[in-house]
Amino acid sequence: MSTTASPALDVDGLLANPTTQIVVCCGAGGVGKTTTSAALAVRAADAGRTVVVLTIDPARRLAQALGLTTLDNVPRVVKGVGADSGGRLWAMQLDMKRTFDEIVEAHSTPQRARQIYANPFYQSLSSSFAGTQEYMAMEKLGQLRARGEWDLIVVDTPPSRSALDFLDAPQRMARFLDGRMIRLLAAPAKAGGRAYLKVVGAGFALFARVLTRILGTQVLADVSAFVGALDSMFGGFRERAEATYEMLRRPGTAFIVVTAPESDALREASFFLDRLAADQMPLAGVIVNRVHGSAVPELSGQRAETAAEALEEIGGQELTASVLRIHADLMFLGRREQRLTARLRKAHPGVAMREIPALPGEVHDLAALRTVGAAMAGDPD
Ligand SMILES: Nc1ncnc2c1ncn2[C@@H]1O[C@H](COP(=O)(O)OP(=O)(O)OP(=O)(O)O)[C@@H](O)[C@H]1O
Ligand SMILES: [Mg+2]
Repeated sequence: MSTTASPALDVDGLLANPTTQIVVCCGAGGVGKTTTSAALAVRAADAGRTVVVLTIDPARRLAQALGLTTLDNVPRVVKGVGADSGGRLWAMQLDMKRTFDEIVEAHSTPQRARQIYANPFYQSLSSSFAGTQEYMAMEKLGQLRARGEWDLIVVDTPPSRSALDFLDAPQRMARFLDGRMIRLLAAPAKAGGRAYLKVVGAGFALFARVLTRILGTQVLADVSAFVGALDSMFGGFRERAEATYEMLRRPGTAFIVVTAPESDALREASFFLDRLAADQMPLAGVIVNRVHGSAVPELSGQRAETAAEALEEIGGQELTASVLRIHADLMFLGRREQRLTARLRKAHPGVAMREIPALPGEVHDLAALRTVGAAMAGDPD
């Protein structure tokens, strides 16, 4: 099927452009966001840039290849990258809880910070609240940028159910921490004891009783104490979320939407492209990862299958027949993937795309990352 409708994504041009300061790889779960981010970062550093890649939950072997043996929430130099070009690469793995702790530390006295850390509500919010990981990835990105030590930051995004979660998280988090419900919950701490009932009225008293029954007195007290202690940060959260969001909209940012050539992932990619356009976020293009094909594309799947059937009838040629069948399956799969991908191209004309072949093994070392990087750049080597 023709793939001429979309321009090719010029990854090398993007990475070589000094005005490209942030590249964000996003997409549905499991499509190759972490792999793509790492491969882009290696390629950019090999091309001479000073790069940091913020990875989220990389597979253990990939983390090892990047020198990430300890989870300490700070960037570490990756050896063996950029040597010939003067480029350098740092890598880090996001520690969501520690990033949250750092924010608390930066905004309160040591004694206050200790109280907050010990609060069970804070502990569950900082480690498991839906969206916390997305929010903290944004937060970390803001911190890395503020340090000004890298001329390119490549950002991996969390394995969300939906790719849109990453864009929505800061707002959701800010709304949560600054929203009406949590302010009401904070009221006891602020108003002191029973006086809050007068302030918020009988409606809330009923609401609080229900919540107390459901959550237990202790949880409610924890929430109150936590929000009371975080009071000074309320404005802070919203401002930070908005600042990071604005940073992502600036021209120095490039979003790369990663997808697999499968209907669910492509649908997700399509939503994401619409959303980026609606929010006027700068899109670089789409990477369709793990595309299948055969080394001998001139032999059609149909002909290979017919030949395999003929050989099986004759007998004595089982090995050749099974090779032909594998070839036929790959050709059929590849055709199906091209058909599905063509729909995305048609729905988003003008959006630059690039296909990356499915490699025979997992992408767990620098050599494999360089192979993926070369494929992304359309470089045959
Ligand atoms: N082109 C490829 N060829 C072969 N294997 C690949 C390719 N791209 C990624 N992989 C492998 O697929 C797996 C998933 O990739 P990766 O972890 O990058 O996905 P992800 O989008 O970050 O997933 P999650 O949403 O869970 O964070 C990894 O084991 C990786 O090595
Ligand atoms: Mg990942």
